[in-house]
Amino acid sequence: MIIPDADLIQRDIEAYLEQHRNKDLLRFLTCGNVDDGKSTLIGRLLYDAKMIYEDQLAAVHRDSKIHGTTGTDFDPALLTDGLKAEREQGITIDVAYRYFSTSKRKFIIADTPGHEQYTRNMATGASNCQLAVILIDARHGVTTQTRRHSFIASLLGISHVIVAVNKMDLVDWSEAVYDDIRKAYNALCARLSFKDVHFIPISALLGDNVVDRSPNMPWHNGPTLLHHLENVNISAHRNLIDMRFPVQSVFRPDLNFRGFAGTVASGVIRPGDKVMVLPSRQTSTVKSIISWEGELAYAFPPMPVVITLADEIDASRGDIIAPVNNLPRTDHEFDAMLVWMNEKPAREMTSYLVKHTTAMVPATLEKIRYEVDVNNMRKKAPPPEGTAPELAMNSIARVKIILHRPLVFDPFTRNHATGSFILIDRITNATIAAGMILDRTSAADQSSGEQPRSTHITRETSLVSSAERELLLKQRPRTVWLTGLSGSGKSTIAKLLERMLIDQGKLCYVLDGDNIRHGLNRDLGFTAEDRKENIRRIAEVAKLMNDAGLIVITAFISPYREDRQSARDIIGHERFLEAYLNTPLDVCEERDPKGLYRRARKGEITSFTGVSPDAPYEPPAAPDIMLDTTTADAEQCARILLAAVLN
Ligand code: ADX
Repeated sequence: MIIPDADLIQRDIEAYLEQHRNKDLLRFLTCGNVDDGKSTLIGRLLYDAKMIYEDQLAAVHRDSKIHGTTGTDFDPALLTDGLKAEREQGITIDVAYRYFSTSKRKFIIADTPGHEQYTRNMATGASNCQLAVILIDARHGVTTQTRRHSFIASLLGISHVIVAVNKMDLVDWSEAVYDDIRKAYNALCARLSFKDVHFIPISALLGDNVVDRSPNMPWHNGPTLLHHLENVNISAHRNLIDMRFPVQSVFRPDLNFRGFAGTVASGVIRPGDKVMVLPSRQTSTVKSIISWEGELAYAFPPMPVVITLADEIDASRGDIIAPVNNLPRTDHEFDAMLVWMNEKPAREMTSYLVKHTTAMVPATLEKIRYEVDVNNMRKKAPPPEGTAPELAMNSIARVKIILHRPLVFDPFTRNHATGSFILIDRITNATIAAGMILDRTSAADQSSGEQPRSTHITRETSLVSSAERELLLKQRPRTVWLTGLSGSGKSTIAKLLERMLIDQGKLCYVLDGDNIRHGLNRDLGFTAEDRKENIRRIAEVAKLMNDAGLIVITAFISPYREDRQSARDIIGHERFLEAYLNTPLDVCEERDPKGLYRRARKGEITSFTGVSPDAPYEPPAAPDIMLDTTTADAEQCARILLAAVLN
């Protein structure tokens, strides 16, 4: 067997380096039980790929006589069991990274321990890997450890798996044994989210099907392990769709130049792209992308670049730049799967630092929703009544995290770069957990698409027409949509208008922000997403009330143009009357009827409309009615609206 690299290194190192630079890189991790033969396998790969230097080899031959477990004078495990302690105890105790390359690819192996308590090392090792080699001892088949490792690999978003059924020499190269293991593993996969699972029968010790085809298992038609590693298509692993650029630092060499430095986390960025800086929601266009090699036509992950924007916009470390038509979530909270890595157990209501892309945000672990039993991938029973839930080292659990400042992120399944985070101890600065952000399951998430989430549902048509209802109630249903800053007079005017309409014998009803947030929308806060959902639900309710024949008056800040437009679409353009209460911020702040502006200025309320940079108010460009509450009093405003509704 000839691996060209080894020869090329000898003959022409420059040519080798050039070839090396252009090869792609596969990061994989190996996991298996203590005795499954991981180190032997890695040693065999390195040895047969001729990637070991002569002096290292001599040392291995020497050591094999002392520590070797194979009874021969060559034990490939000794090539990889780098740590002395590890050699003497016969177990691998930390993640070790090894590098090797063939003519096709460069490889980084994260060698993670098989010992039961070392889940955390596996989580650390797996975080960057595209593929996992799961080793199974042919004599033992699928074990608890196999389930545990597979579950963690799947949780960490690894989609490619090679199941290497090892020690085939000890089961007489039996195809039947191999087939049984394959079936058992396939059954386990039903609960996991792997995209491709590939089985290879091997003997790491003797080298069968590792680099060279095995003469002992002619029944196996598939490729060898190395061949598969060299050829597996991993390009789909990278997210090239959702552009996310976390700002690392602001680059300002002189007054005329301002650039944002960082590494493209996902997607492709090009000059001319319309982008938004989050969480502040300022929009601009990408002017240029600069790297050490000059200006670029595009950049993709993991390229470090400096981006300049067409407008003077403020952004700082931890902000994320994303396309206006494909935004991540900005929120004060999320649910996540957490791998707890600290000796000290996790407890609810403890505060930590969340490190997420380039941002570092104080946060509280608010709730431990449930712990996962890694051995069967099911929820563990909750602790007995009255006992506070805790997470011991190596536990995996679903938790709720509350952030002390809004964070910009994606669900992990959608974007590994912006969907993962680590928790850091505020005092010791140690990494104590790794987390994967979960997709939101609440109704808020459903607002993103216009189609219902469930399938097989159809619409029922009423036997009563809207014309009949109009005749019955002697009124035309409308929705008067009041929008404006907090304190602009929405609620006051809405109530007056309701009174006037009822006095005229018109059936109407006010939907008011503060009231609805006590009931229907009590699960929503004030992030852009929550406000969007707030407005979506209100629009749906207003539509139902209009369908029933009522006149509806809504009093919500509804700060975003896009959300008001969606409300108009839901309710129907012919029924929708947008009324803008054009009261300047300083007047609203002066009135401050609920004392909220004062509290917002003191920092006691975050994301307060008009005050906080992440909560702007976007005035309507062309409202149906504009009311200036500084020149007209509430009563006059209500009369103007009354005339418009009855028109
Ligand atoms: S909206 O932006 O989603 O349309 P909505 O009208 O429902 O807001 O609620 C606004 C009311 O909630 C305000 O009148 C105020 O009393 C209260 N409130 C509490 N926190 C905030 C905040 N951060 N920003 C705006 N209003 C807030």
